[in-house]
Amino acid sequence: MAPVKVGLLGLGTVGSGTATVLKRNAEEIARRAGRGIIVDFVATSKSELPAGVGLSNSRITNDPYDVVNDPEIEIVVELFGGTEPAKSLVLQAIANGKHVVTANKALIAEHGNEIFARAQEKGVIVAFEAGIAGGIPIIKALREGLSANKINWLAGIINGTGNFILTEMRDKGRDFQDVLKEAQALGYAEADPTFDVEGIDAAHKLCILSSIAFGIPLQFDKTYTEGISDISSDDVDYAAELGYSIKHLGIAKQTDKGIEQRVHPTLIPKKRLIANVDGVMNAVLVHGDAVGPTLHYGAGAGSEPTASAVVADIIDIARALTSDPENRVPHLAFQADSLSDLPI
Ligand code: HSE
Repeated sequence: MAPVKVGLLGLGTVGSGTATVLKRNAEEIARRAGRGIIVDFVATSKSELPAGVGLSNSRITNDPYDVVNDPEIEIVVELFGGTEPAKSLVLQAIANGKHVVTANKALIAEHGNEIFARAQEKGVIVAFEAGIAGGIPIIKALREGLSANKINWLAGIINGTGNFILTEMRDKGRDFQDVLKEAQALGYAEADPTFDVEGIDAAHKLCILSSIAFGIPLQFDKTYTEGISDISSDDVDYAAELGYSIKHLGIAKQTDKGIEQRVHPTLIPKKRLIANVDGVMNAVLVHGDAVGPTLHYGAGAGSEPTASAVVADIIDIARALTSDPENRVPHLAFQADSLSDLPI
């Protein structure tokens, strides 16, 4: 089958990670997707595409509408971030019948209800795993692995930048602003880092998780939101002295009065697993009525961890596009000759 042609909007930290992973793991990805996947068209403000990331045959433009209106492109990958022009581009891509992959949690949290309604009308997929908890496949876990459960509550460290700052303050006595600058240099922070430190990014992610876990519309405006900007080195030190870690959590739970959604700093006893989730790592606890508590852990930000989730969504869509039953790829893809080497 002909390869799936992807159009990439944005070639920053996550965009270059996505191109790199698609190139490096092309063979495994083609096997799992049932078709090759190529980045055919890239919208970037850069004047030329970087070498060595598999984009040597790709077309380049600085007008993203060239990509969303291109008839060859089947999947648009939106990595601009922010709500505009991302929203208009995504709606245009959907109107053109294209599937969309995005890492943009602000877009989904604030405009997802409208975007999903349009996608449903057009019969296209909008996938957003990369927007929540970086490389942790938490959306797939909620939708697939935990789909038999009534979810009682979920709670997690869902902002890598904030967790990196709190960890460095506690372990190395570093200054808040100094660590934030490092998080920006490492590509962890949002374009506007107040989203990270004031809890807005975590609130975006929490309302998406809550919507999927409890089957409710996205309600970002109903999320209690408090960040970490008021936490001082003294707070971190006193908490440690008393046997606690300060962690910034997003919590969604079913109560008698409805679903509660809140993000704020929390004191957690050091013996708890989640108190030991440090640096840029994220973790999400999900409690289901059948399974009990589950813990999902991994890198919450960064180029390739986030690209891992972007590419997984592209592969899922490529599989769905392989609609001919004869060519349909099973979810467990394996190499035909791999069994003979096993010592059995
Ligand atoms: N700024 C975000 C974070 C990026 O630090 O978690 C990943 O969503």
